[in-house]
Amino acid sequence: MFISFVFHTTKDVRIEQVDRLFGKLSQIQTFRKNMHMTEKSQPRREPALKVAMMPRDTNVHNTIFGGLLLSYIDLAGAAHCRSELLDRCVTIAMNEVVFKHAVFVGDIVSLFCETIRIGRTSITVKVDVWAERFEQPRQCVWVTEAEVTYVNVDHDRKPIPIVPEKGKEI
Ligand SMILES: CC(C)(COP(=O)(O)OP(=O)(O)OC[C@H]1O[C@@H](n2cnc3c(N)ncnc32)[C@H](O)[C@@H]1OP(=O)(O)O)[C@@H](O)C(=O)NCCC(=O)NCCS
Repeated sequence: MFISFVFHTTKDVRIEQVDRLFGKLSQIQTFRKNMHMTEKSQPRREPALKVAMMPRDTNVHNTIFGGLLLSYIDLAGAAHCRSELLDRCVTIAMNEVVFKHAVFVGDIVSLFCETIRIGRTSITVKVDVWAERFEQPRQCVWVTEAEVTYVNVDHDRKPIPIVPEKGKEI
């Protein structure tokens, strides 16, 4: 009887220890996952676009509608093309976009661009999207990234070669 009591108690304690260990493991996994997300640091350069999220921008879940962010990605990339001296460009492609964090009303969304490829008539821009939380100002989360390709076109919307900026390597 006594032995059985001790056995059961020890078994319960062991189960409790295993549970606690699994709890800790899952905490570590979540922490590592978050670490991975925050490993990226927000670029120091000026964003191509910075926008405050408004209540009209939400979906039925009360988070920001992903399609709106896609349009901002497109706009930011196009603004970046202007800085690369492309007067008239149209979007031909956007790669897969994965939203890693939700964006909420009041967040300030910043879109950072960099040119990653310049072809004969097209230019590919990488756009990184960050959200500064309304509830915790200065806390920024990396939301997503996209690669957008624009084609330099003439007045008839026909592709024309990109003329390199003087002194600029392409
Ligand atoms: C953009 C457009 C003028 C290009 O005409 P096109 O005859 O298809 O162009 P081309 O096949 O000569 O390709 C032009 C450039 O786009 C690139 N390109 C074509 N398809 C691509 C794709 N799927 N992904 C990335 N780049 C692509 C080509 O490599 C080429 O670049 P390069 O000269 O630097 O090598 C034409 O497709 C168009 O008008 N599309 C609609 C654009 C638009 O209105 N976008 C807004 C959304 S509605």
